Amino acid sequence: MELELRGITKRFPGVLANDDVSLTARSGKVLALIGENGAGKSTLMNVLSGLYQPDAGEILIDGVVQKFGDPGDAIKAGIGMVHQHFMLVPVFSVWENVVLGVEPVKGPGIMNRKEARNEVRDISGKYGLAVDPDAMVEDLPVGIQQRVEIIKVLLRGAKILVFDEPTAVLTPQEVIEFFGIVAELKGRGATIIFITHKLKEALAIADDITVLRGGKVAGHADPKTATPELLASMMVGRDIDLTVDKAESTPGDTVLQLSGVRMVDDYGRALLDHIDLSVRAGEIVGVAGIQGNGQTELVEAITGLLPIEAGTVEMLGNDISRYSPRQRHAAGIAHVPEDRNHMGMVGSFTVAENLVLDSYYAAPFSNHGLLHRDVIRDSAEQLVEAYDVRPPLIDNTGNALSGGNAQKMIVAREFSRDVPLVICAQPTRGIDVGSIEYIHEQIVRKRDEGKAILIVSTELDEIFALSDRILVMYDGRIVAERKASETTSTEIGLFMAGKAA
Ligand SMILES: Nc1ncnc2c1ncn2[C@@H]1O[C@H](COP(=O)(O)OP(=O)(O)OP(=O)(O)O)[C@@H](O)[C@H]1O
Ligand SMILES: [Mg+2]
Repeated sequence: MELELRGITKRFPGVLANDDVSLTARSGKVLALIGENGAGKSTLMNVLSGLYQPDAGEILIDGVVQKFGDPGDAIKAGIGMVHQHFMLVPVFSVWENVVLGVEPVKGPGIMNRKEARNEVRDISGKYGLAVDPDAMVEDLPVGIQQRVEIIKVLLRGAKILVFDEPTAVLTPQEVIEFFGIVAELKGRGATIIFITHKLKEALAIADDITVLRGGKVAGHADPKTATPELLASMMVGRDIDLTVDKAESTPGDTVLQLSGVRMVDDYGRALLDHIDLSVRAGEIVGVAGIQGNGQTELVEAITGLLPIEAGTVEMLGNDISRYSPRQRHAAGIAHVPEDRNHMGMVGSFTVAENLVLDSYYAAPFSNHGLLHRDVIRDSAEQLVEAYDVRPPLIDNTGNALSGGNAQKMIVAREFSRDVPLVICAQPTRGIDVGSIEYIHEQIVRKRDEGKAILIVSTELDEIFALSDRILVMYDGRIVAERKASETTSTEIGLFMAGKAA
């Protein structure tokens, strides 16, 4: 089905999120929708899926004007939305999630389980979406959870599929598989809209590219001739330099030291084993690895979110292994968490409140339990400006921020603390190229101020752009350590795949 958006306009208080946006998505083709954080991509897709009512404009499918009063109408018209954050029920099985709300029945109120399972099997077979219908969703890797989301929209008859940053959380192998699924969907005539910040992906997979900027269509690009540089400058209206300028590091004293750290899961299986690592003042240590090889647990061991079974975590020579997360925070660990929605912010709090989320109880923000609201507000205004959080409204709630701007807010809060150790997990996930450039500069600036910095990233380009020293994690262990200047992405890639010895 061909989709056309004509003059879509959507306002939020103080923000024109979509400003007269027109675009076309063709049947059997992939339209990549790109643009800066806050450009209006997710809003536009929420209008398309009936979640928001536009203030002006029309949605046409095969030339016919549609009226979507709610998401149910959009689903009936053939629109399937695979969200930025999955909306599955973790404790339900795959098939239960897939048929939720559209359960086949064999009598009043009696679900036909066999039929439901078969429907799931049919779709997964037809589109090559391999998944076990009886598996529990919470036990599945994200790549497979995403397949469940796709099966779910296909079962509801989706012909126009919208993917909002589908590859942000996938491993390189899962991205390849995802592209295979997209090719299959295309082959069967689906209309696909693909939102991404990874310009190389847009160029690899799209038939058409539309660029949004400040809520408006900034232009269209032809993936056959466009380059990442061209797309980046269309997105942000200036040239972007993704190589990070930095001098040779001059590491000082050891700030963080992990020795023989071991962590186990509920069944006693090792999640981390024999972890020895150190980060010195004035250096950036990058932890490379494919998602799921212990990086998340490594950060939890350092920040105290999960207990370790053996070994020690020392900071500036003190054993902090038994400290609570709050004590470690107070001891001088800044932490940009991997999962911003669950750990980095409180969506119902304002931007100003989120910016002092775990420091409001101490000077300069309060004194003996009395909050200094002016100081909090002044500091928030400065941070929002410095880190280009848009819109720069400190009384807005966290929920009103676009995904990338929420991430910028969290980075601003953590980087504004003058502490010896900064742990950054996936610091630029979901962030547009312009803001990546800025955040990378800030990380290097922190290093040059003498902070010890540990970066965990699944983006090898990011690891190489920033790190002085690179560690590779594989299967819960550190399997390699190299000076960044003395290795190549090929060598690190082999270690990541568990192939080099
Ligand atoms: N529920 C809301 N209330 C108020 N403002 C909102 C709301 N949702 C989005 N906005 C604002 O609308 C604008 C567009 O946001 P949107 O989420 O569409 O951006 P995006 O292009 O998807 O960005 P990102 O790449 O960061 O995900 C932003 O300025 C955002 O702050
Ligand atoms: Mg978005």
